[in-house]
Amino acid sequence: PGLATYDPGFVNTASCRSAITYIDGDAGILEYRGYPIEQLAESSTFLEVAYLLLNGELPNSAQLEQWTHDITFHTFLHENIKTFIEGFRYDAHPMGMTMAAIAALSTFYPDARDIGDPDNRKLQATRLIAKMPTLGAFAFRHGQGKPYVYPDNELSYVDNFLAMLFKMSERKYDADPRLSRALEILFILHADHEQNCSANAVRSVGSSGVDPYSAIAAGVGALYGPLHGGANEAVLRMLRRIGDVSNIPEFIEGVKAGNERLMGFGHRVYKNYDPRAKIIKQAADGVFEVTGVNPLLKIALELEKIALEDEYFVSRKLYPNVDFYSGLIYEALQFPPEMFTVLFAIGRMPGWLAQWEELSGDKEQKIARPKQVYTGARTRDFVPIDKR
Ligand code: CMC
Repeated sequence: PGLATYDPGFVNTASCRSAITYIDGDAGILEYRGYPIEQLAESSTFLEVAYLLLNGELPNSAQLEQWTHDITFHTFLHENIKTFIEGFRYDAHPMGMTMAAIAALSTFYPDARDIGDPDNRKLQATRLIAKMPTLGAFAFRHGQGKPYVYPDNELSYVDNFLAMLFKMSERKYDADPRLSRALEILFILHADHEQNCSANAVRSVGSSGVDPYSAIAAGVGALYGPLHGGANEAVLRMLRRIGDVSNIPEFIEGVKAGNERLMGFGHRVYKNYDPRAKIIKQAADGVFEVTGVNPLLKIALELEKIALEDEYFVSRKLYPNVDFYSGLIYEALQFPPEMFTVLFAIGRMPGWLAQWEELSGDKEQKIARPKQVYTGARTRDFVPIDKR
């Protein structure tokens, strides 16, 4: 009884009002707080973008200095989180470890449950953005059996992350600035994407009034899935499986027959080239100048060319999305595939937090509780076990 709109997957349902990210999927436009993604990727830093998403405006110099200081101040993890990560099996997926560690952080910061206090919310957001690279790096090192590297607060956000991942001696780790800029651009491109599956998870869980660590852990779980953030890992595995350009036609036929999906293609919102994929393709060229070309690039380029000319993909408006080329860059930067989604999560953290902050101040927002269309049995009498 009652009026319900049946919309599985929320294809045509606006779950909230939001002033954070604007997307025009038909025109291939993405803007954070009104700033085109192309300009932010060209001229901004990840921390500036994080500030913009959370506060609505770009920081001035003094604000950026304070923000950078605050983030730097919170990069360390409680030692028991390290012990917690050590408890995982050697082959645990870093995304699973990251998700669990974020949920565990809620117990280290019980003050986070006071979500009615804006200063407190800001403190928790700062902590989460600051600690994400440390968590990601610890999860990575755990899988490699290497000792953890503590944050170096002399370094920038991205350089510090690279040092915690790859530093192998007492010497200071010097990341190639071209590679660290490429990673920064990838973080910027991933920073928010309005009501995607993981943002919706953060808002849905957050609407219960839970602390942000628990809500964000739900978002990380959503991102873990192969149809969302896990797609970049799946793209690399797919390219490796195709193995050679000559195998592409057969692979495409399999996709068209419905055997599998062309990973890194298609998007719920973009029915045009994903603007992030365009920027990533350019960034990839810069990275390959330093690292040498990833041999899988050839397969990816040919796959894209064939798909964009094929009626199946054209008629369904399936174009490369953000994940199609990002994995190739990550691999060139020496990341194993299972780290790709963790990188996505580090980039997406400011977006999740901005969505959560907006939710917290939204008086119209109620606890997320959709209706259903019931299709089961109607009232019937209980049958004792010996009569079934
Ligand atoms: N390969 C082959 N066919 C596809 C693909 C694909 N990648 N994507 C969609 N289709 C087909 C689908 O089979 C359907 O065909 P038909 O109308 O004949 O049944 C039609 O296109 C519409 O697909 P849909 O499943 O209704 O579209 P959706 O909006 O529900 O799904 C998507 C969007 C991203 C889940 C989907 O395109 C997909 O699975 N892509 C591959 C995974 C991927 O790359 N995900 C990353 C998304 S971008 C980053 C992120 O958000 O994490």
